[in-house]
Amino acid sequence: MTSLWLDRPRTIEPDLFVADASFDTIVVGGGLAGLCTALLLARSGESVAVFEARQLASVTTGNTTGKLSLLHGGQLSKVAHHNSAEVARAYVEANLEGQKWLLRYCVEHELPFQMRDAFTYAGTAEGAESVQKEFEACRNAGLDVTLESESDLPFASFGAVRLAEQAQINPLDIVERLARDVQERRGRVIENTRVTDVAHHGDGLEVTTSAGRVRAQRIVLATGTPILGRGAHFARLEPSRSYALAFTVPGPIPEGMYLSIDEPGRSLRTARVGDTEYLVVGGNGHLVGREHSPAAQVRDLEAWTALHFPGAVRTHAWSAQDYRSLDYAPYVGSIVPGDERIFLATGFNKWGMTNAVAASLALSSQLLDGEMEWARTLYGRRVTLSDAADAAGLGAGVGVELVKDWLAQTVSRPPASPLSDGEGDVYREGMSPVGLCRVDGALSKVSGVCTHLGGVLGWNDAEQSWDCPLHGSRFSHDGQRLEGPALKDLERFDVAADAAE
Ligand SMILES: Cc1cc2nc3c(=O)[nH]c(=O)nc-3n(C[C@H](O)[C@H](O)[C@H](O)COP(=O)(O)OP(=O)(O)OC[C@H]3O[C@@H](n4cnc5c(N)ncnc54)[C@H](O)[C@@H]3O)c2cc1C
Ligand code: FES
Repeated sequence: MTSLWLDRPRTIEPDLFVADASFDTIVVGGGLAGLCTALLLARSGESVAVFEARQLASVTTGNTTGKLSLLHGGQLSKVAHHNSAEVARAYVEANLEGQKWLLRYCVEHELPFQMRDAFTYAGTAEGAESVQKEFEACRNAGLDVTLESESDLPFASFGAVRLAEQAQINPLDIVERLARDVQERRGRVIENTRVTDVAHHGDGLEVTTSAGRVRAQRIVLATGTPILGRGAHFARLEPSRSYALAFTVPGPIPEGMYLSIDEPGRSLRTARVGDTEYLVVGGNGHLVGREHSPAAQVRDLEAWTALHFPGAVRTHAWSAQDYRSLDYAPYVGSIVPGDERIFLATGFNKWGMTNAVAASLALSSQLLDGEMEWARTLYGRRVTLSDAADAAGLGAGVGVELVKDWLAQTVSRPPASPLSDGEGDVYREGMSPVGLCRVDGALSKVSGVCTHLGGVLGWNDAEQSWDCPLHGSRFSHDGQRLEGPALKDLERFDVAADAAE
């Protein structure tokens, strides 16, 4: 599945890996958070390298819906519920700084964006109360929102919060420009190179990658969920996957950027790519690896669009995941308190277009010995006891996904009937879960156990991947690591004759 944004020729010319090279800062991850951080550091004269396991923007940034908005669905009332009023205000201030920075960057580099009003609407009568709560949280935190009872949507809605003059972007325009900018400041942008370990070494860090070793004074993990176990951040993050589809529509499309506050989640925006105006519809979010048929979620969004936008023709479909922290605000700063060499930025909860840039501003400032008041308040907050208790809740309901429990409950053998193309299943072979799938006609057989901490994988029939229900790692049909906290690929097996037929 290729997003509307990634469906274009690449203009990035990555740098070559040089073994034993040494940098002031290595940024791991070539999404928005990593590239912004790298640029801000390179601008200050630091020697910087970005290491990207796949290709720039290939994970969440290239598969976002690209709303550069301060109205974050129902997020602010949750930030306010879990934190002090001061933290909620700092959350808005941080995102405002992020939004201003990115818009200024677009103007300076003549990158297109469109100003649009943003709406958080209730799709059901029950959702009206949540809209009211979000309105109050926004007002309390200083956002100039209004409450609306009418809408331009071609289906029933039950009130909305509106924030005027927000923006929508094509993330690839920005990513490509940021990467070139880093390179023009003698920074290195290295793709297809996975960082697998980081160790304190002498007066710096030794960084192990899939291509060899390098050194740095500091490292920033801008990898979505952090790839290092230190601090166990993966256990305090909830990975959630959503779907997006682009359509051409014969009739009018509402101009605003819309997001429902209630379930099923529905996100709408327009997008102009080339000469074509698209409707982008998103939604149907769920915890990674815990949805029986992701492909059914795509079909559901398509059917919903056909109902409300007759004649809409689907041109693209894609999906992506992002990570929610216990208290709905991002984790940004040292990986563990007191570590002045390893930093991270995560927990943007599907609002990273502004949050990732804010995190980059705060991190680059911290690394260069500066400080921002909002960053100290927002990222220096303490997790409360009740939020800490919720950490256990994030893992709830997944006991059966751990190997020993799964084995105890599973008697299945290889699928009785031959797998059709696009199908996959995890079955028990002796005492091991094994994944078998058929993609493009060919069978692949891999270990059914996640290389992170042993979750039993499930088949994602939309992306044709193996997804882990514990902390959101994902692997391609033939076992290559795609994203999440796992660092190793899945073990691959020869396809036995009994499985092939
Ligand atoms: C469906 C969806 C819609 C969204 N829509 C919006 C929106 O409209 N507005 C908004 O503000 N936000 C939105 N978001 C959120 C936003 O897209 C993300 O928060 C943001 O893109 C995250 O950027 P990032 O740089 O942190 O992560 P990513 O873009 O995922 O970048 C992390 C990079 O790190 C790399 N990496 C991982 N491990 C390693 C390793 N070991 N070595 C080297 N590299 C590694 C990955 O390959 C990846 O490229 C949405 C999210 C989703 C899922
Ligand atoms: S992602 Fe942690 S066990 Fe799979």
